[in-house]
Amino acid sequence: MTAMEKQKSESPIEGLLEEKRLFKPSDEFRAQANVNDPKIYEEAAKDREAYWAKQAERLHWFKKWDKVLEWDPPFAKWFIGGKLNASYNCVDRHFKSHRRQKPAIIWEGEPGEQRVLTYEDLYYEVNKFSNVLKNLGVKKGDRVTIYMPMVPELAIAVLACARIGAPHSVVFGGFSADSLRERINDCQSKIVVTADGGYRRGNFIPLKDNVDEALKNAPSVEKVVVFQRGEDKKKVNMHKDRDYWWDELMEKAETYCEPEPMDSEDMLFLLYTSGTTGKPKGIVHTTGGYMTGVTTTTYMIFDIKEDDIYWCTADIGWITGHSYVVYGPLSNGATVVMYEGGPDYPDKDRFWRIVEKYRVTIFYTAPTAIRSFMRWGIEYPRRCDLSSLRLLGTVGEPINPEAWIWFHKYIGNEKCPIVDTWWQTETGSILISPLPGIVATKPGSATIPIPGIEADVVDNYGNPVEPGQGGYLVIKSPWPSMLRTIYGDEKRYIDTYWSKYKNMYFPGDGAKKDEDGYFWLLGRVDDVINVSGHRIGTMEVESALVDHPSVAESAVIGKSHDIKGQCIVAFVTLKEGVKGTPELENELKLHVGKKIGAIAKPEKIYFTAELPKTRSGKIMRRLLRDIAEGRILGDTTTLADPTVIERIKSQYTDKE
Ligand code: WT7
Repeated sequence: MTAMEKQKSESPIEGLLEEKRLFKPSDEFRAQANVNDPKIYEEAAKDREAYWAKQAERLHWFKKWDKVLEWDPPFAKWFIGGKLNASYNCVDRHFKSHRRQKPAIIWEGEPGEQRVLTYEDLYYEVNKFSNVLKNLGVKKGDRVTIYMPMVPELAIAVLACARIGAPHSVVFGGFSADSLRERINDCQSKIVVTADGGYRRGNFIPLKDNVDEALKNAPSVEKVVVFQRGEDKKKVNMHKDRDYWWDELMEKAETYCEPEPMDSEDMLFLLYTSGTTGKPKGIVHTTGGYMTGVTTTTYMIFDIKEDDIYWCTADIGWITGHSYVVYGPLSNGATVVMYEGGPDYPDKDRFWRIVEKYRVTIFYTAPTAIRSFMRWGIEYPRRCDLSSLRLLGTVGEPINPEAWIWFHKYIGNEKCPIVDTWWQTETGSILISPLPGIVATKPGSATIPIPGIEADVVDNYGNPVEPGQGGYLVIKSPWPSMLRTIYGDEKRYIDTYWSKYKNMYFPGDGAKKDEDGYFWLLGRVDDVINVSGHRIGTMEVESALVDHPSVAESAVIGKSHDIKGQCIVAFVTLKEGVKGTPELENELKLHVGKKIGAIAKPEKIYFTAELPKTRSGKIMRRLLRDIAEGRILGDTTTLADPTVIERIKSQYTDKE
């Protein structure tokens, strides 16, 4: 058994709460930290509204708010009456300051190209692209879908939308044409901004082809802007009067565009994420509260200073990229590293080469990446000079203590604090994390809620549980960057987050608190699978599977996985006369990849004659999870036919 397996096989309660190692901030780090007075916690708790109002002062407001908060559960409005613009905050105010010539974005393409955009460069690019969008007929309130690789133009497009008040919906470039179409149709965008493709592990991924495929059935879209990332424009199929090249439009665009004074509660963007049903949810974020949340947390948690070189490895297609590649760091006037490609291309030291080359000081990544680095071995980081690093962070899933220690030792050289940051697409910004100059860390714990956030662990009835007992994480009072609704589906907003408990936000995570009040996140408690820190709904994968002509029915579950945290396992019943061969298993995996995107591909598909169901016909995934994990079966008494699960079990357990 590897150490990692051993740790997993122990009960999560004992395994986690036995972790007694404590890492205090060094005196040196504490002395220089942006925030180092523990009183901030009490002060914020005493008057949360006053605290957040103070934080909102970090932003530039065209007009100050009249009222800090209106809380009509579950609907919150923050900084009511305030007017501001997110692009003005991320770009103009630095352009007008001593930061004009400071690098805003240091970009590296996977094939090796480099570009540095100063705040001045970024200012002109964003202004011009804002005018491009306006010239194409985009108005305040219109939704713009962005489907791009990790190039600076992605950040430019996002900021240009913000500048003219057109909410963006960024769709991660790894998603399929079908997923893209579904998201375009849900928010009815008139414009899609894309690129011919992007580089990933040495391949050119043709994004424009997916756009063409998606637009076969997306009637709202009138225009497409295409950024050229590949070598040859002639290879790209451009539709007349619909598709335009980015560079040609930019050439003609004016260099100034007045930033739209947005109401604090105007929508800044929507971002789709998976839930328990097959249909992704368009999470709505507004301007004033979101910007307050990301600006404050970037300053306090990442301890951003004037000369930091900050690198968050997330793709802008996810919330982490929105909040901690674009809005948070740029609002703070930081220098952001942006990298297009994979961590193992051309070799497994690529990330460390980037850290060395640009002298990265703050490095924020995902536990799944750290587990891959561990598996690859320490020779790769050892090849590079990582001495510039001073702070490390993780996000996306619980980090196992072994990976935490590895990160601390081999990347942080035992001198960098690690911030394990818990949050979600819905929370907009980090809610549970150490402040690195104040809070001692324990490997595997996201520690405590940040100042201004009230969280707890409760039982099924909403009562706080005893220390060490498992329960559900809840957020007990509103916070500025919380989602405001689900786009076009207020009922789902209420049902998903606010119906389990009265007036408490339910994120869908299990958790424990220890004697010191530290939070230990235990993973999702709903039908959402966390694969490499990305959310996939079981129903989405099931719908993709039954869409295949050979499949009658399917049940999808998450199984623990050494590198990915969880992987997707499907149980499938086939139509009459179809045989479950290894070839069909492969075909179905590819089918799911094509329907949703590569991240949703099942790791393993089990063909079974039947699925275990209750008398009312509900599939009991819990029992399938027991089989996949090789555990003893849980309670089977509610099954319509208890022999079904026994048959599946005997069919598969001896084979594994
Ligand atoms: C879910 C949210 C927010 C950024 C990336 C994912 C899990 C996130 C942690 C953490 C334990 C974590 C939760 C959460 N999660 N960070 N530090 N420790 N779990 O965003 O796709 O909206 O997923 O990711 O389960 O609910 P997302």
